[in-house]
Amino acid sequence: MAMKCTVPAVRTRKVVDGAEPLVMVTAYDAPGARMVDEAGADLILVGDSVAMVVLGYENTLQVTVDDIAHHTAAVSRARPSSLVVADMPWMSFHVSTADTLANAATLIRAGAGAVKLEGGRRRLPMVEALVAAEIPVMGHIGLTPQSVNAMGGFRVQGRSAAAALDLVAAAKALAHAGCFAIVLEGVPDQVAAMVTGSVDVPTIGIGAGPDCDGQVLVFHDVLGIEQNIRPRFVRRYADLHSEGVGALTRFADDVRSGSFPSAEESYRLSDEDAESLGLYGGV
Ligand code: KIV
Repeated sequence: MAMKCTVPAVRTRKVVDGAEPLVMVTAYDAPGARMVDEAGADLILVGDSVAMVVLGYENTLQVTVDDIAHHTAAVSRARPSSLVVADMPWMSFHVSTADTLANAATLIRAGAGAVKLEGGRRRLPMVEALVAAEIPVMGHIGLTPQSVNAMGGFRVQGRSAAAALDLVAAAKALAHAGCFAIVLEGVPDQVAAMVTGSVDVPTIGIGAGPDCDGQVLVFHDVLGIEQNIRPRFVRRYADLHSEGVGALTRFADDVRSGSFPSAEESYRLSDEDAESLGLYGGV
């Protein structure tokens, strides 16, 4: 069994210092977590992307702390060596620090080793309160999907010089407040490189180019389970949707033709018991 990945071990993983890039993949249930863990990922993110790829919502705004706790508990029951990070849903860290702490505690008690929250400087008091309560926090800036309405859609961020500098300032402030890593989503690769060079905690990119300290992708995207959306930054390593539909079609055909189940796939009484019930050969 691989050694458990810890927050302090992640915090020092800067590529500039010779570290291997971090690998993070989302998972939302025990079998998914086992697959990601066996593949050797450093971190498993129980992302609020569960809303879109599992629960069928159009954005991430519908999931609650209870939803993420439910999926975090399933992931942690797989006992992965990867560090489990639970996403704090929209409105679970916006109202008060007391609320934020209680919500994060629910996710930690469900089995997470850290929480992730979206947003820059406006969220600093929440980050500081969590860190003070010994709850490790991963930041998330750039294209923050919980801001879909405020951004007017899922749009690449940091496209102007001023916006790029703003992201650098946000990353520095989050690192200073105690975040142990920062997700950079949907930003030009040069901006991601600037941000990565300006903080001493690792950046983990998604749609942020190669110059981050690690990369994260959504489980369903990597495996080709979800066919509806295919952002440019996704590389598919399998086509499980087609494979799954093929397998299910063969199952349906076998049921309809009577070839499933076979004798080997069925249970039988002993001859003696069958006989005592008046069931003779062939029944
Ligand atoms: O919810 C999620 O899957 C995420 C990643 C895309 C970073 O936040």
